[in-house]
Amino acid sequence: MRWGLWGAAAWLIVASMLFTATSAFTQTSVAADSAPALERLEGHGGPIRGINISKDGSLIFTSSFDNSVGVWSGADLSHIRWIEGHAAAVNVAIALDLKHHLTGGDDFKIMLRWPSGETKEVWDGHQGKVMDLAIGVGLVASAGWDGWIGLWPYTSDDPSQSDGDLAGPTPVFLKGHQSGVNAVAFAGEARETLYSASTDGTIREWDAPGQSLRRIVVKHGFGVNKLVLDEAAGWMAYGATDGVVRVLDLTSDEELVAFDDGRRPILAMALSPDRTRLAFGDGEGYITIVSTETWEIERDFRAVRRGPVWALAFLDEERVLSGGLDDFAAVWPIATGAAPKLPEAVSRRFHVDPETVSNGERQFARKCSVCHTLTPDSRRRAGPSLYGLFGRPAGTVDGYPYSNALTGTDIIWSPETLDKLFDIGPDHYTPGSKMPMQRIVNPDDRTDLITYLRAATDPDGDAPSEETAK
Ligand code: HEC
Repeated sequence: MRWGLWGAAAWLIVASMLFTATSAFTQTSVAADSAPALERLEGHGGPIRGINISKDGSLIFTSSFDNSVGVWSGADLSHIRWIEGHAAAVNVAIALDLKHHLTGGDDFKIMLRWPSGETKEVWDGHQGKVMDLAIGVGLVASAGWDGWIGLWPYTSDDPSQSDGDLAGPTPVFLKGHQSGVNAVAFAGEARETLYSASTDGTIREWDAPGQSLRRIVVKHGFGVNKLVLDEAAGWMAYGATDGVVRVLDLTSDEELVAFDDGRRPILAMALSPDRTRLAFGDGEGYITIVSTETWEIERDFRAVRRGPVWALAFLDEERVLSGGLDDFAAVWPIATGAAPKLPEAVSRRFHVDPETVSNGERQFARKCSVCHTLTPDSRRRAGPSLYGLFGRPAGTVDGYPYSNALTGTDIIWSPETLDKLFDIGPDHYTPGSKMPMQRIVNPDDRTDLITYLRAATDPDGDAPSEETAK
């Protein structure tokens, strides 16, 4: 009904414009006229993997595929600073206490940050990506794709103290999950209980100080991605790869309700500050808002055209922030009649029309553009700019923090070396490289990509190293 009315209203606007407008109108102007403008947190150079808001609501953390964390003001959404230092995508960033922040990433590391964003300590120990962090009493828990849960003793200290060494605390790892751990959450008066959710299909309950498993809470044949608790109300909600959000009674383990919209997987979940609303986001770009008082769906709308909603957080009871494939976080008012739409003019970098672009450009858009620019500026992307690539020795873009795998090689980028890079994969051609493992198996796709890159990395024919390539 809501959508029916909305559709009718939109058509009225379109119709009136058709009859009155003499100049051409575009879909963009329709969207701009009929939907409230979408507020955004802008500046990242890649998809947004996680959003967290400090307990007092003053700071918003966006963690991104571009290896950085954005810190924003909860009061007016203005940008405060970037936190750098991870050598790969950052999955989670949270306020540890009033002074310190913690970040965890695909580089297996957890970093303790000063208020300035600078790194105070590096917490090493995980042998897989760090996917989630939770704060207990004197203890931080981490979820790793090594299947482990890290327990890191922590004493909140005076941040004016000097830096000391960068070793970090000695962790204890709780092992037992059969595969990656996606989420951790503390519970209990003294935060002595720890829940963990894993791709192995289980949620486990641990005695954190005792460092032991208490029980397996649920066991499924599909992975569990997210976990949200409301201890006061006595429930736990979890979202899984089967596209279902299930809510369990914390004492009886009885399933109170399940939301199954068939849109899988569930990738993001958040609870509003007053705990009356639960939001979840799925792999198809939808955000659903549920009342935790009635367990009724209050809103269900598409936040991105397609693709994953990886991150959700409530700014307040009325606004939810989302992150996904776009390199901005979007602010969605919950109560207004219609969800604000992205104007058509905002197209994602890698959303390309298969009818109008070459196969090579499509390959680049889908497989590379999220991490690489083609302009001299590397922007805020995970990888170096590919501008002037051909004829360029590997590892030589000024100011880009390469790994030794690229600075320590004598590869010169050419159609042949690039072909080899994606034929056998960076993990074999440049072992130890930060570029994720990937191959382009079809030789025609590789040729098309290289043909496209030859033109696109040197659009004016004057990129610095093109002579040497000829
Ligand atoms: C998830 C991010 C990511 C994706 C996707 C990605 N790259 Fe990379 N790429 C990197 C990173 C990070 C480096 C730097 C590696 C290092 O320092 O070890 C890199 C390095 C490179 C280099 C070496 C550049 C130099 O200056 O030596 C080339 C060439 C390259 N990438 C091409 C591509 C192409 C072509 C694609 C798409 C098929 C692609 N990359 C996809 C992250 C990515």
